[in-house]
Amino acid sequence: MAAHLTTTGEAIHPPLADPVIIWYRGNARDLPWRHPGTSPWAVLVSEVMLQQTPVARVLPVWQSWLRRWPSPAALAADSCGEAIRMWGKLGYPRRALRLHATAVIITDRHGAAVPSDLGSLQALPGVGAYTARAVAAFAFGQRHAVVDTNVRRFVARAVLGQAAAAAPAAARDLALVESLVPEAPARAAIFSVAAMELGALVCTARAPACTRCPIRGHCAWQLAGRPARTGPVRPAQRFAGTDRQVRGLLLAVLRGSPVAVSAGALAAAWADAGQRERALRTLMSDGLVVVLPDGRYALPGH
Ligand code: ADE
Repeated sequence: MAAHLTTTGEAIHPPLADPVIIWYRGNARDLPWRHPGTSPWAVLVSEVMLQQTPVARVLPVWQSWLRRWPSPAALAADSCGEAIRMWGKLGYPRRALRLHATAVIITDRHGAAVPSDLGSLQALPGVGAYTARAVAAFAFGQRHAVVDTNVRRFVARAVLGQAAAAAPAAARDLALVESLVPEAPARAAIFSVAAMELGALVCTARAPACTRCPIRGHCAWQLAGRPARTGPVRPAQRFAGTDRQVRGLLLAVLRGSPVAVSAGALAAAWADAGQRERALRTLMSDGLVVVLPDGRYALPGH
C-alpha cells in the first residue's frame, strides 16, 4: 500500500504522527541535548557530532566540549587546534575545524547567537540541509522536514512499502517527509525527533522490531507482507589499514602531546612510510596539522 490519492491527486498518508509522538513520549532515550532549556549552541554541537557518529561515542565529548565552550564566543576565542584536540576520537575531524569556523562566524556576524533561520544556518561551515533543519526544529521549535538516514528508512517502509530507502534524493525526500509533518510547529518538532528515534530504535535497518512498532497497523511495508529489499546491499566500510585509520593514529599522537612532535614520534605510530607521508600530507592540506620551521608537527595554533 502506498499513499492514497484524493480526487485532486493530493497524497493522503496513513495517520502516523499521533502514534509516533505517543510512542516517543514513552520510549525515547534520555539524551541530554533533548532536555528542555538546552541552548541552540549545544543543540548545534550535538547535531554536528552526531553526523556519522553513534550516540554513545558523542555523549562524553559533547559534555566536555560544552563545559569548556558553553557558547560560540567561548570557542571562537580559543584556537582551532584546541577544537581538534577536544574532538578526541569522534572521527571525521574536519568537523571540529568547521565547528570552530562556525563559532567565529556566529560571534562576528550574528551577534554571538546561533541564527534561527534556515538560510543563515545552512550558510555556516559544516551545516548542511539535515543539520540546518535539525537545529531550526530542535533548538527553535520550527516546523521543518528533518530527514536523516533513520527517517528515510522509516518513511520508505511506512509510506512507500519498501524494505529500504532508495538512494538519497534531497528534494523528493524532503517533500515526502514534509507531507507527514504535523502543521503546528511544536508538534512538528516532536514528530521530527520521534521519527528519527523510531528509526534508530525500532525500524532498524537489519532487524526491525515490528511487534513493538506503534504504526504497524498502518505501515505499507507491513501490510504488503514485508517484501525483501531489492537492489544491491552496500558493503560495510573497511577501516583497518585505510588512510583514514592512519590519519586518526597520527592525529591522536598530536592530540596527546601539549607540544609539537617530531617526525620520529609520528613514525612510531605507523611504520609504513609511504602511507604515513600520504596521510600527513592530507592532514596538512585539510588544515588539521601544521609543520613548524624546525620540522616538527603540531595542531594549528590560530
Ligand atoms: N536527537 C536529536 N537529534 C538527534 C540525532 N541526530 N541523533 C540522535 N538523537 C537525536
